[in-house]
Order: sequence, then C-alpha cells, then structure tokens
Amino acid sequence: MKQYKQLHLTGVGLDEPLPLENNGLYSGKDLGTFKDSLRAPVHRWFKYPAGYSYKFVRASFEQFDISQGDWVYDPFSGTGTTLVSAKQLGVNAYGVEAHTFVHWVAETKLYWDFDLDKLNRQFNNFLSTSYQFVQDNVGDVSLNGAFPELVYKCYHTNDLKELYLLREFIIQEASDSHLQNFFKLALTNTLREAAAAGTGWPYISPRASKDKPAKGALRVFGKIVQDMFLDLRVIQANNTPGEWPQALNILGDSREKQNLANGQIDIALTSPPYLNNYDYADRTRLETYFWGITKSWGDITREYRDKLITAATTQIRRSKYDVETALNQEVKSVAADVYKTLQPKILQLAELRLQKGGKKSYDLMVALYFNDIFQVMKETYRVLRKGGRFCLILGDSAPYGVHIQTDNLIGELGLGLGFSNFDYHKLRTRGGKWKDNPQRHSVPLREGVVVLTK
Ligand SMILES: C[S@@+](CC[C@H](N)C(=O)[O-])C[C@H]1O[C@@H](n2cnc3c(N)ncnc32)[C@H](O)[C@@H]1O
Repeated sequence: MKQYKQLHLTGVGLDEPLPLENNGLYSGKDLGTFKDSLRAPVHRWFKYPAGYSYKFVRASFEQFDISQGDWVYDPFSGTGTTLVSAKQLGVNAYGVEAHTFVHWVAETKLYWDFDLDKLNRQFNNFLSTSYQFVQDNVGDVSLNGAFPELVYKCYHTNDLKELYLLREFIIQEASDSHLQNFFKLALTNTLREAAAAGTGWPYISPRASKDKPAKGALRVFGKIVQDMFLDLRVIQANNTPGEWPQALNILGDSREKQNLANGQIDIALTSPPYLNNYDYADRTRLETYFWGITKSWGDITREYRDKLITAATTQIRRSKYDVETALNQEVKSVAADVYKTLQPKILQLAELRLQKGGKKSYDLMVALYFNDIFQVMKETYRVLRKGGRFCLILGDSAPYGVHIQTDNLIGELGLGLGFSNFDYHKLRTRGGKWKDNPQRHSVPLREGVVVLTK
C-alpha cells in the first residue's frame, strides 16, 4: 500500500480557503480564470489570461489525495500554473507546451535558485546602471526601423524609447542566463502595463493609444522587478532551495508520445484551448514583436500557429481537407456516439458558412479540434495510473449558433478510450458580456471541470 506524505498547503500564497464545497466538488467561479493567479507570487510574473487559477491545482491535489513525490501531468502547461504550484507543494510535474514564447515564460518562472543576497546586490547595481543608461540615451536614441508598426502605435514615444533602451541594456549587460531571463520576463511584463493602447486580451486596439497619458516605462519596470524579487524571497523562505521536486517543462506537442512510462502519472490537470476561435498564436504578438522574435503574421504562423492544436479558423487551410471525412475514423471507432453527435453539426456548419459574410471554417475547426484533443487524451490515458484522475477545465461553444458541448463530448470520448467514469462540475456561465449584441447567438455557455477516472 502506498504511504502518503501529507502536503504542506500552508506555503506561499496558499493559505486562503480551498475552493472545494463540503461534498468535495469543485466550486469557485473563477477557478478557470487567471484572476487569483494575478495576485499570487511567481504566478503573477506574466499575465496570461488563457491561464487558470493556481487554486485549481491545489484543490485537485487535496481532493484526490495527491502527496509529495507523486507526479502530475499537464499536456497544455502554458505559463506553468500547474508546474509552479506543484513545485511549491513538493509534487513532481511534467508539462508540455508547444508555443515557444509561452514555454520560455514558464521556464523562467520555474527558476528559483538564485543566491538572494548576491541577487539583491546585482539588482541594485543593474537597476541603477540601467536607469543611468536610459537617462543618458533617451534624448538621442532613434527608434526608426526598430520594431514592426504595431509596437509604435501602442506607446508614447518616450515610453517606447525607455523600453527599447532597457531591452538593449538587458541583452548586453546581464551576462548570467538566469539573470538575463529574469530581467527579460520583468520587461515583458512591463510591456502591457506601460502601454497607452488598449492591450487587453486577446487583441490589441492601438486606436485608444494617444488619449492616455505616458506611464513612465522605467518606473513600471522597476516596480515589477522589485515585486518579482520579493516573490523569490517568499518562495525561498518557505522552502529549501535545491530540494525541489522535479518540474519538467517540455517544449513539444502533447498530441505526440511523451517521455513518460505507462501509469507513471498520479493525476493529470489541464485546460486545453477552448473551441472558441481565439488565436493563441496572436496573443503574444506584442511581446514577440518587441523582442524581435517575429515581425509579421507569416512569422507567427511558422513559429506558433502551425504548432498548436486546432482551435481557431486562422489555423485552417481549407484546401487540405474534405469536410465529409475531416473528423477521424479513429474517433468514430472509439466513441461512435461522439461521432454521431459531431458529424451532422460539422456538415451543418459547412452549409451555414456559405450563407455568412465571413465564411468562417468553423466546420473544419470543430472536426480538427476533436481529432487533436483525441490524440492528447489517448496519450494522457496511457501515462495515467489506474484510479488516477484526468481533470480538464473546459468551456463549450456555439460557432454560428451551433452548440458544441465540448465538455460532454470530451467526457464521452474519455469513456470510449477506457476511462471508467466521467463527472462534470459547473463553475460559471459564460458569454454574458455579448448578450446585447444582435449578431451573437443566444446559446447559454458554461465553464466547468470534466473529471475522468482511469
Ligand atoms: C488554456 S492554455 C493553458 C494555460 C495554462 N493552464 C496556464 O495556466 O498557463 C492552453 C495552452 O495550450 C497550448 N497548446 C496548444 N496546442 C498545444 C500542443 N499541441 N501541445 C502542447 N501545448 C499546446 C497553447 O499554446 C496554450 O498555452
């Protein structure tokens, strides 16, 4: 019989009540959002609205008796909410993320082994010399050709000059790679805070830009660096540096086979992209343009869009598919009811698109999404131990008003794959902010947790 070692749930930022009801089900309408994580140490180092609450990880560990030394798997690990939480709690973690920039964010958030006294001296030195560098150069520097057009539209000129000089200073002066990543992430986090444009997610609206006052990018950066430093202090005060569990942050594709043994994983926690046409590749456009990693839509497609599971019409090249056969036969053979539910909706969407101005490829988006999710679920089933849970935070969707009950369908797919049980716990109703839009469908949408038991 396995001996469970109790988790210490009193660590950093972890002392608020668990979002579980008395009967042990998930509750808390914001578990599927990044709201709590925005205030939590380390989680707040990058605002990723596609991320979920660190409390979801804690609640799942508590509910399903996950102990120190156990293994958690996250096939869509994003900016590392599962990995960071598991590392704080002594649980080994294996996460996969396909988006290189988002993966780098998680990697940087997972490095906590700085010598803090030394770091403190380096910080002070770095901050004062970088301030001096910016002040000495801000008058003369020319930004001509430094960025794609979008970046100029987001800032007042002086703020952008400060950001640019900080970028150059970090690249030239921070010699140690961990230190450089730390400052780069601080500057990355500064980008949206210091913008005068509407840089809320998912898309940027540069129109608003010149109406807002300059933010003082240098000042914003300084505050962010200090907050990050304080987070490291809290983390190190609650743990012994060097004695961390494993936190394997894999840059890869979770549709493929992972370097994990059959049954190695005690629990899988994740939130896949929803089937709601958000283009994840475009969400980090400002950041990757700023760092010079991408310069155009084509770069973003090559670097990110083509590597992610299908969840947006911008990822689809229609000529590659026949809508009649796009949904895999493998899905049909494993879960005939899922196929029977989806196939008529896919064909309905194929007809509907011809009547709409945008002619969006929602038909193929639905088929390809389920093909992809199916591969991820198959691999997750393989690596999970018997009795282990696979918990997914999910929302349903209604492209062109055709309701796709993603949560139920994923639950049913799981049963087809061999999971013995499927539960659903609703967290909240979604889509309310669109209710006055006459163009919008009126299907009520929800977000909740699908729990599959192997
Ligand atoms: C809803 S987000 C997960 C966010 C994560 N829970 C967090 O808190 O940061 C889904 C993530 O899946 C990633 N993704 C999409 N396709 C993938 C694939 N084939 N393999 C691995 N990750 C993928 C996206 O880039 C995105 O970051």
